[in-house]
Amino acid sequence: MKQTLVFATNNAHKLSEIRAMLGDAIEVRSLAEIGCFDDIPETAPTLEGNALIKARWVYERYGLNCFADDTGLEVEALGGRPGVHTARYAYPDRHDPEANNRKLLAELQGAATRAARFRTVIALIQGGEEKLFEGIVEGEIAPCERGTDGFGYDPVFMPGTDGLTFAELGVEAKNRISHRARAVAALCQYLLK
Ligand code: IMP
Repeated sequence: MKQTLVFATNNAHKLSEIRAMLGDAIEVRSLAEIGCFDDIPETAPTLEGNALIKARWVYERYGLNCFADDTGLEVEALGGRPGVHTARYAYPDRHDPEANNRKLLAELQGAATRAARFRTVIALIQGGEEKLFEGIVEGEIAPCERGTDGFGYDPVFMPGTDGLTFAELGVEAKNRISHRARAVAALCQYLLK
């Protein structure tokens, strides 16, 4: 029988990305599709902790095998911040991507290094067994915002040595090398093995 897994998200882009990678082998259901409309608290101090909270929430309440993700931008000169607070870096009570980018560029003025990385953690729970997967893309924070594609920190994050930001690279090229693509690939490799 076909295996079913809940992905603890309602993000349509994330769902279609993983469904495309898993093909027909595994059916992936969203939170809405299992009737879960809870605002799952993300209160852990680490990406691993938050991914586990979300996966356990579904596994414990719905009894369904599940996985969940959490992503953070870790900036070397800021001691790994904003990390687990990446979405609400500028304002603790809301997600404002433009303000996040402005704050990041301001905090890095005069910094000795602009090295940074995006890190995605995926927590999988199957039959009560928990497993973590990780995807990392190393890069640098650009001196100013550049490019129009993508979302969030894409205009300020340069993943390679050619000086292009994720927002200049375009979605297709980004999705081949991104933190999330790498974490999803690690999960899919495990599930399809
Ligand atoms: P989430 O865990 O996928 O919701 O990601 C947390 C936050 O990290 C998002 O709200 C964005 O601000 C940022 N983020 C995650 N992935 C990316 C990306 O690929 N590009 C730019 N920003 C990202």
